Amino acid sequence: MYDEFLTFAVALAREAGQIQLAYFRGNDLAIRTKSNISDVVTRADRESEELIAGAIVERWPSHAILGEEGGSRGAAASDYRWVIDPLDGTTNYSQGLPVFAVSIALQYRGEPIVGVVYAPYLNELFTAARGGGAYLSTGGGTPQPIHVAGKQSLPTAVVATGFPYDKDRNPDNNAANVARILPHVRDLRRMGAAAYDLCAVAAGFLDGFWELGLHEWDVAAGSLILLEAGGVIRELRADRGVSLVAGNAAIVDEIGRYVE
Ligand code: IPD
Ligand code: CA
Ligand code: CA
Repeated sequence: MYDEFLTFAVALAREAGQIQLAYFRGNDLAIRTKSNISDVVTRADRESEELIAGAIVERWPSHAILGEEGGSRGAAASDYRWVIDPLDGTTNYSQGLPVFAVSIALQYRGEPIVGVVYAPYLNELFTAARGGGAYLSTGGGTPQPIHVAGKQSLPTAVVATGFPYDKDRNPDNNAANVARILPHVRDLRRMGAAAYDLCAVAAGFLDGFWELGLHEWDVAAGSLILLEAGGVIRELRADRGVSLVAGNAAIVDEIGRYVE
């Protein structure tokens, strides 16, 4: 039903991924800071968003677009809205670390209908269309269905989190949550790309994930992929942007005992 959109988004994600690989670990990244010294943007972020948003405007001129780097464009009143994080995990990317991804979602009347997250260096493509399940294609191979892990308690769970960019000036920066939960989990990861974190939970590579102060573009595609993989998302806080806990129902409950 959503095949045309999904195929289009996958092709764009792969193309943007090629831009990112071309600059990766090179000395032509043109790194700049945004909101503060921790918040960086590179040439690859900007060029990827231009490629993706430009192609959407050309193919679907009546649709709305929200992109991290370019803001809102297109037809604002449209029922269809694309939400793009052209490069999620820019800190990793700018350091030469391999966990970064292109994230593209399409919403219809505010509900996600298509989600694509492509990690070009890892060559992992996560996809979902509403009601159609979630899939992972590795190395360009046939997409395989993915499902969240079944663990029911934290002592065997490996969970991930992240830290907000205002961590220097706002003490409500997730450090206390980490200190509380750490003794109770098998281990903790800070992967560095929220879209990838959600997909890793969707595929059962991580058992759970929480983060505060995210933005819509970080989670729009990954949330649909997680839900279609049988996962659960709970809002963690109403006062800190997009703040969520993800996993299976039991792990979301367990994480919720320690984080706020
Ligand atoms: C960031 C990553 C990171 C998360 C930050 C996000 P960006 O996105 O997803 O894991 O902790 O909150 O802003 O800036 O690399 O697109
Ligand atoms: Ca992001
Ligand atoms: Ca980004």
